[in-house]
Amino acid sequence: SPEDLLFSYDGILYPAAFSSPETLEALKSFETRSSDVILAGYPKTGTNWLEQMVREIESTDAKYTEEEMKERINAEKELQMFPRLEFGDPGVFEILLLVRNPKDTAVSYYHFYNNMPVLPSFASWDEYFTAFMNGKLAWGSYFDHLMEWNRHIDHERMMMISYEELKENPVLGMKKIAAFFGFSLSEEEFSRIARKTSFQAMKEKSKETHGKFGDILFRKGVVGSWRDLFSEVQNEEMDQKFEECIGGTILATKIKY
Ligand code: PPS
Repeated sequence: SPEDLLFSYDGILYPAAFSSPETLEALKSFETRSSDVILAGYPKTGTNWLEQMVREIESTDAKYTEEEMKERINAEKELQMFPRLEFGDPGVFEILLLVRNPKDTAVSYYHFYNNMPVLPSFASWDEYFTAFMNGKLAWGSYFDHLMEWNRHIDHERMMMISYEELKENPVLGMKKIAAFFGFSLSEEEFSRIARKTSFQAMKEKSKETHGKFGDILFRKGVVGSWRDLFSEVQNEEMDQKFEECIGGTILATKIKY
């Protein structure tokens, strides 16, 4: 039944098909190493895209072997838990936080929700919108996620990048990422990776990389598709919520829409 598709853990909903209370419990004592890289992103903020870019940057620089690379990247999707870890712990790690404007994130997640059999469906956009605003979705509230990560935003081992800036100038975005992790690549190499990780290129390969979910995952890949679904009232409601949650922060200036 639809109720069985999600379970609640520490007040946050999770899909039973992808995780379990036991897995989440085990994550609390997950031992990090100083070489670990955490890609933290709320669903639909472009995590698959960023992960692909980082993998390409790492393998191009050849600072690490294939084996080391596999170990390094931990693109675990349950990372909402990580703000609760102490940064001072032995085995600190680097965190790359990916953000996307909440309106496009909501629209992208709406299509995903209704197309994934392992997630419950919503009868209407309006009903879904209310659930998004209240954080009653798998992996919890995007607003809580932003507020939680914002507390660590000044940490020297944390870097933030937005979907919108990667879209506007992928090479520049990747240069910032490479600088943060200490990789050096040539202009040509950055350009090659930008082509290889373009929406079109990744969509074309998606059957290979993501099987039948490819078409669901690589939907539109643009900034501004929220305009298709948001009413004026919903638009204002989200602006207000956004302002209340992270208004006036550096994070907010990064999430332009
Ligand atoms: S998931 O299911 O949470 O892992 O989804 P995630 O990968 O985080 O986000 C999916 C959205 O990212 C878009 N996408 C891209 N945009 C630009 N360029 C590239 N290469 C790219 N790859 C994925 C994808 O289309 C989803 O956004 P929407 O708005 O739905 O198209």
